[in-house]
Amino acid sequence: MSYNNADLTDLTNRPTAPARLSHRAACAGGEPIASLLMARSLANPQLISLAAGFVDQQQLPLELVRQAMEALWRDPSRARAALQYGTTVGYPALREMVLQRLLQADGCSAAQLGASVDQVVVTAGSNQLLFLLGDVLLDPGDIVLCASPSYFVFLGTLKNLGARAVAVASDRHGPIPEAIDELLRHYQTNGQLGRVKAIYVCSYFDNPAGTTVPHRRRAELVELVKRWSRRSKLYLIEDAVYRPLRYYGSDTPSIRSLDSAGDTVIHVDSFSKTFSPGVRVGWGLLPRQLLGPVLAEKGNIDFGSPNFNQVLMATVLELGLYDRHVHQLRDTYRQKLDATLQAVSRCFGETDGVQWLTPEGGLYVWLRLPENVDTGPDGPLFDRAVAEGVLYVPGQCCFPAEPAGKPKNFLRLSFGIPTCEEITRGVEALRRAVSQVV
Ligand SMILES: Cc1ncc(COP(=O)(O)O)c(C=O)c1O
Repeated sequence: MSYNNADLTDLTNRPTAPARLSHRAACAGGEPIASLLMARSLANPQLISLAAGFVDQQQLPLELVRQAMEALWRDPSRARAALQYGTTVGYPALREMVLQRLLQADGCSAAQLGASVDQVVVTAGSNQLLFLLGDVLLDPGDIVLCASPSYFVFLGTLKNLGARAVAVASDRHGPIPEAIDELLRHYQTNGQLGRVKAIYVCSYFDNPAGTTVPHRRRAELVELVKRWSRRSKLYLIEDAVYRPLRYYGSDTPSIRSLDSAGDTVIHVDSFSKTFSPGVRVGWGLLPRQLLGPVLAEKGNIDFGSPNFNQVLMATVLELGLYDRHVHQLRDTYRQKLDATLQAVSRCFGETDGVQWLTPEGGLYVWLRLPENVDTGPDGPLFDRAVAEGVLYVPGQCCFPAEPAGKPKNFLRLSFGIPTCEEITRGVEALRRAVSQVV
């Protein structure tokens, strides 16, 4: 059989059948709210965004990165090595330093923590590590118990993997251990205990609720997970990315520090919020059992996160630039947190049914509005808030998919990007919008 040119043109111009995507891609619709917020911001640059979880633009460490680069360039062989591929597990000097810093912050030795540097894995942001953990632990239908509310990107990851995010009742100290115990008993009774693979907890200044798990509850969580792990292995994923951003009170040792065998808690951390999300260096301290599977999967995905960024971050730490920067950041964000809380208190203090949590750090204030106010993108408040000049994150996207019937009357305010003056104006705009719908 032979084709002439006209036949070929005809064949190539014919429309093909639609793409046949994987089930996972179909589940990965992403959180529509993120694109909606982005579209609204782009369409109206005057809007004050109390929505994006970005860090303060003016505080990004321009000068410190320049100093680190200059130091690196004075050592051409190290600079060349930085421009080469690295290893899947990450840059050794950086891994050593992050482990030492964790030990120091927790006041523990490596032996007390059952930890060694070979368990430290560097990733492209903590988000990559969260994804990898989901990927190696979860089959479709597996369950992760999540604080309610939780970090919505991780909820999206679980959805993408076909896993079930199930809400654990939470209070101003994070997820309630008794509620977890009750849920696990429920799954044991209905034969689904084996499907519960992990509990996800953001241990410091949670995104979005701003809660920090107190020491006693940390110990209870570890005890509980270890107890249930005798029947069916469970991990506690501790997301500690906001730990250094504490503006009030004193630091609490990590949940990981209470797992002396190091076989239960997966510690997840990052330099995004405390240095630069553009550099995007995250890391984790993993139980030994998970190290092989995570590295095998990471090897398939990228066989090493960007090496240059890791060497840069290591240089920043070696030169002592990081701690000075975090110190300065704390001052800036303390003022912004104060501005947010003062504005919220002034604007909503007298409004029946409005409550908020007072975080000691982080980047978020979580607001509860009267029961009848739907804060969602299709509800009456969202468009009115935009018309008044402010964007927020509707609380609905922060609640795990199960059980159905997510609360509709919450919203998250982020104070990372706006100035104190913009925060005040933004909260006032929100107040005007709320008064139109209550
Ligand atoms: C709780 C929490 N964990 C993880 C991340 C991911 O940060 P990165 O991947 O930049 O380290 C974020 C980002 O907003 C977050 O809020």
